[in-house]
Amino acid sequence: MTAHYEVRGSVAVITLDNPPVNGLGFATRTAVAAGVERAEADAAVKAIVITGAGKAFSGGADIKEFGSPKALAEPNLLSLIALVEACNKPIVAAIHSVCMGGGLELALGCHYRIAQSGTKVALPEVKLGLLPGAGGTQRLPRALGVEPALNMIVSGEPVEAQMLAMVPGQKLFDKIVDADVVDAAVKFAEEVSEKRPLPKVRELKARHPNADAYFQFARNMVGGMSKNFPAPLRCLEAVAGAVKLKFDDGMRAEREGFAALMLTPESKALRHLFFAERVASKIADVPEDTPLRAIAKVGVIGAGTMGGGITMNFLNAGLPVTMLETKQEALDRGVATIRKNYEAQVKKGKLKEDKYAQRMALLTTTLNYADLADADLIIEAVFEEIAVKESVFKQLDEVAKPGAILASNTSTLDVDKIASFTKRPQDVVGMHFFSPANVMKLLEVVRGKATAKDVLATVMALAKKIRKTAVVSGVCDGFIGNRMIEQYSRQAGFLLDEGCSPSQVDKAAEKFGFAMGPFRMGDLAGNDIGWAIRKRRHVEKPGMKYSASADRLCELGRFGQKTGAGWYDYQPGKRDAIPSPVVEEMLAKHREAIAAKTRDISDEEIVHRLVFALVNEAAHLLEEGIAQRASDVDMVYLTGYGFPIWRGGPMCYADTVGLFNVVQAMKRFAKNPMDDGAFWTPAPLLARLVAEGKSFT
Ligand code: NAI
Repeated sequence: MTAHYEVRGSVAVITLDNPPVNGLGFATRTAVAAGVERAEADAAVKAIVITGAGKAFSGGADIKEFGSPKALAEPNLLSLIALVEACNKPIVAAIHSVCMGGGLELALGCHYRIAQSGTKVALPEVKLGLLPGAGGTQRLPRALGVEPALNMIVSGEPVEAQMLAMVPGQKLFDKIVDADVVDAAVKFAEEVSEKRPLPKVRELKARHPNADAYFQFARNMVGGMSKNFPAPLRCLEAVAGAVKLKFDDGMRAEREGFAALMLTPESKALRHLFFAERVASKIADVPEDTPLRAIAKVGVIGAGTMGGGITMNFLNAGLPVTMLETKQEALDRGVATIRKNYEAQVKKGKLKEDKYAQRMALLTTTLNYADLADADLIIEAVFEEIAVKESVFKQLDEVAKPGAILASNTSTLDVDKIASFTKRPQDVVGMHFFSPANVMKLLEVVRGKATAKDVLATVMALAKKIRKTAVVSGVCDGFIGNRMIEQYSRQAGFLLDEGCSPSQVDKAAEKFGFAMGPFRMGDLAGNDIGWAIRKRRHVEKPGMKYSASADRLCELGRFGQKTGAGWYDYQPGKRDAIPSPVVEEMLAKHREAIAAKTRDISDEEIVHRLVFALVNEAAHLLEEGIAQRASDVDMVYLTGYGFPIWRGGPMCYADTVGLFNVVQAMKRFAKNPMDDGAFWTPAPLLARLVAEGKSFT
C-alpha cells in the first residue's frame, strides 16, 4: 500500500506511504484519491487530514516515473488536486519535514494547511529546467503573495515553513506547530468541520500594487542571471499569469509552459544530469550493501599542489589528516598554503574563525612513515615518476595497518603497476583528484585489476562525505577524463595548423559554453605538462599524429600564466589573455614549415571537431569497459572539465545532435588531409548505435 486510511473520531486520516519521500507516483495518487472518495461517502466522517509517513509530507513527483507514461496516468497530479479541492468535506494538509514540488502543489489544493516548524518547503522544478506544472505557479502566488512566490519558483530553493508564515497577509499556512502535526491537524479539522464555504486557494486573488513595473524589473534580473536556461523566465511568465489571468486560463498557460520546457534541450540536459549524478555512485558488480571499511584517520603523502588540496577536503569533513613529506621545508610550505587558503575564506566571510581553528587542529605533519601506522586511508600525491611511487608504496606496505586503503592520485601512471609494489594489491586504488583539489567536484576512482570491492564501495561513500562527485574508471592512460581531453587537444592543434588563431578556437568553444577554451586552459594548467606527456607518447605511440605547434610554443619557454606568457601574453599579476604577436609569428612559421593548407573554418566546425573527438574517444572507453556508462562520462566532463551544464555533457550533447549526424560529420572530418583521418573512424559502439537507430542514453 502506498497510502493508508484510518478514521480518528470524525476525521479520516490519509497517510501517503511511498518511501523514501512519498513521491506522488501512480499507485500513491490512486490510493489518495480512493481515500478521499471513501471519506466523502462515509457519513460518519466530517473532515479529512492528508499527511505523509516517515521522512516527508511529500518530496513531489516520483522520480522512478519521470518521463514515463505512468507519470501522466489518471489520476494524474492535476486530477488528484482537483478532486481534493472539490471535495465537499474540509481537507487539512498536515505538513512536516519535506514538502516539495508536487507535494506542495497537493497541499495547496487542500482547504487548510498546518505545518510543523522546520518543514522545508520548495518548488524545485526550475532546477530540472521545468516549471511547477500542477498549479504551483497559480496557487502559490495566491496563497503566499506574488513576490515571495516568484522568488521560490524561480530559485527552486527550500524555505522553512515558519519563515513563510511570517509573510504579511499569507494564506499558505493556517497554523505552524511544534508538537505532532497530525494530532494538531485532526484537532483543527474537527474545529472547522462544519464551516462553509470551504476556502480554496484558486478563489484568492494574486495581487501586486505595481504588477507591470515589478514583473518588468524581475524579467531583467532573471533574464540576466539565467542566460542559457529558458526555465526561469518561463516560470516568471507563468507567475505573471496568476496576476493577469483568470485561474483556469492561468492553469492553461502553466501547462503550455511546462510542455514547452519539457522539450527543451536544456531541461533534457538537467534531467539527464539529475539521474547521472545518482547512478554514478553505483558499480555494477559491487552490491549496494557491501560492508564499508571504517575511515577515521587519513594520511597524505606529498604536501605539494595536490597533497594540500586533498588534505583540505578531509579537514573540512572533520577527519584528522597526517601529511608526510621528505623535508621539513616542504611540510612548512604545504601547511602555509593550506592556512592561506583558509584565511582567504575567513576574509571573505565564508568560514568562521573557530571553524578554521578546528580544521587546523585536525592537521598533523611528519617526516616519518611510522606515524601513518594507524591511518585507515593513505593517499599518495608525490612527483609523477614511477620510481618515486615505487619507493613510497614499498614503504607504505611496511607500515600501514592491515586493511588500510592505499590510494594514488597519479594522473597518468598505471595503477596496477603501483599496486604491484605492495603485497596487498587488493587494498590499492586510484583516487584522481582535480586541481584545485579542494574546489573541483570531480573524483575519478580508478579501479585496478585487484582492487577489492569493499575498497571501491568505501571510497565511493567517502567521496560523498567530502562532497565530491565520484566516477569509476578502469586503468588506462589518462583514465576517462584525460584520455578524452588528449583527443580534444589534438583537434585544437590541428585547427591552428589549418589557420585558426588560438583566440578564434577559444572564442568558439566559450560561445558553445565551455568555461575556458583549450588554449586558455593550457595557459592556466601549464603547457609544459602536455609537452612532457607528448614526449613520452612519441616514444610509446610513435604513430600518433600531433600538431607540433604546442612544442614550438614550449621551446620558446611560453609555459602559460606561470611564465607570464603562453598561447597569450599576460600582464604581471593579471589573468587576462591578450593575443600575442609572438605566437602569431611562431604559428605562421610553423604553418610554412609543414606546408599547411589553410582555410576559413566556421565556429560550428571548430566546436564539433573538439566535442565529437571527445565523443568518439568516450565510445572507445565504453567499449573497453573503462567507463561504466555514457552518463558517467558526462559527469566527468560536467564536474571536472567545465563542459556547459545546460548541454548535459558530451554524450548527452551528441544524442541531442543525433548520432547519425555526429557520424556524418566525422566522415567529413576524416577526409581532411590536415587531420588524423584514422581517428575519425567511428568507434565500434558508435557505429553500432547508429546502425540500430539508438542513442547513448
Ligand atoms: P607537486 O610537485 O606540487 O607536489 C609533489 C610533492 O611531493 C612535493 O611537495 C614533494 O616534495 C613531494 N614528494 C616528492 N617525493 C616525495 C616522497 N618520496 N615522499 C614524500 N613526498 C614527496 O606535484 P602535484 O601537482 O601536487 O602532483 C602530485 C601528484 O598528483 C602527481 O602524481 C600528479 O600527477 C598528480 N596530479 C596532479 C594534478 C595537477 O593538476 N597538478 C591533477 C591530478 C593529479
